[in-house]
Amino acid sequence: MVYSGGMTAHGGTGIAQSRAAPDHADLRLRDRFGRVARDLRVSLTDRCNLRCTYCMPAEGLQWLPTRDTLDDGEITRLIRIAVEELGIRAVRFTGGEPLLRRSLERIVAFTASLRTDEGARPDIALTTNGLGLAHRAAALKEAGLERVNISLDAVDPAVYASITRRDRFHDVVDAIDAALRTGLEPVKINTVLMRGVNEDQTVPLARFCVEKGLHLRFIEQMPLGPHMAWDRAEIVKAEEIRGILAGEFELEPVPRDDPSAPAARWWASPKNGGRGGDIGIIASVTEPFCGACDRTRLTSDGQMRTCLFARTETDLRSPLRAGAGDREIALIWARGMREKKAGHGIDDPGFIQPERGMSAIGG
Ligand code: 5AD
Ligand code: SF4
Repeated sequence: MVYSGGMTAHGGTGIAQSRAAPDHADLRLRDRFGRVARDLRVSLTDRCNLRCTYCMPAEGLQWLPTRDTLDDGEITRLIRIAVEELGIRAVRFTGGEPLLRRSLERIVAFTASLRTDEGARPDIALTTNGLGLAHRAAALKEAGLERVNISLDAVDPAVYASITRRDRFHDVVDAIDAALRTGLEPVKINTVLMRGVNEDQTVPLARFCVEKGLHLRFIEQMPLGPHMAWDRAEIVKAEEIRGILAGEFELEPVPRDDPSAPAARWWASPKNGGRGGDIGIIASVTEPFCGACDRTRLTSDGQMRTCLFARTETDLRSPLRAGAGDREIALIWARGMREKKAGHGIDDPGFIQPERGMSAIGG
């Protein structure tokens, strides 16, 4: 596929054009602690078609006004600047629910047309709740999407419906099967466990994933949802999850190939026989991995965030709309990254939950 033409304001497809010969200047997203960001998380919308209790109230949130959200030309331009000017090598699309963006295939195809400072295509992944993925998986793969993470917090449809407030369990299973069939692999499953809600789904989820060849990732619940929805004492901790799994599986540690990958992983072999599978735990709260963090984030309204828990954002939308050049925007981005804190500070006595929740920041 070929995309011509620049940003929407100038007509054309609305997708920014990749330059033939990227100018890999010496700019890098290096922070004051020496960490270099190589991984960009792009939130394509703050909206979602589920209402997971740990993320949103039943009535949803106050969505961002359309005029404040980046159009396709603006988003793709920022992605191009990140890859061509700032050394980004991996792009993950998130939301809200990124499949709600109808142009996702085109944005992926554009990203796949870029070349990193190593001359390679950026690694492209998607974090999704899976609704609607079944009929788009093939087109997304064709556009250049490599992998997906699908959120699933229960294998009991009633528990799934009580957490997401929507009766869509079977759509997620269809999405998982389509992702496997299409080769969007490894297909990872993201699970947030909550005490007294879906703790009892730990082993059934693990069995389901191992049998299907899915890589399961348990994520400790972070203080990013509706206020008051999080209580440190109530987290189902990594240690506890390991204990539950160890009752059913032999757990053999898988060495970390990428030091900035957040999951501690095991090869889990069922004690009662059968095939084994890859299970990981992302202990964001109890065993933080901030020291190896290589991420930078872009919200759907064009704000750069250094961290999920950052208290400030760097506005890229205003300079973009005021006509700033690529280099100028890259410099603002690089300068903003210098404000990245050493850690998320969840355990600091003065910790304050960010104003925006996960759905507006991008997971
Ligand atoms: N803590 C941990 N994970 C969360 N997610 C959403 N909110 C939270 C939270 N407060 C997960 C979702 C999804 C991914 C984007 O992040 O389950 O898989
Ligand atoms: Fe939607 Fe994800 Fe939030 Fe659930 S956690 S409501 S799927 S954005």
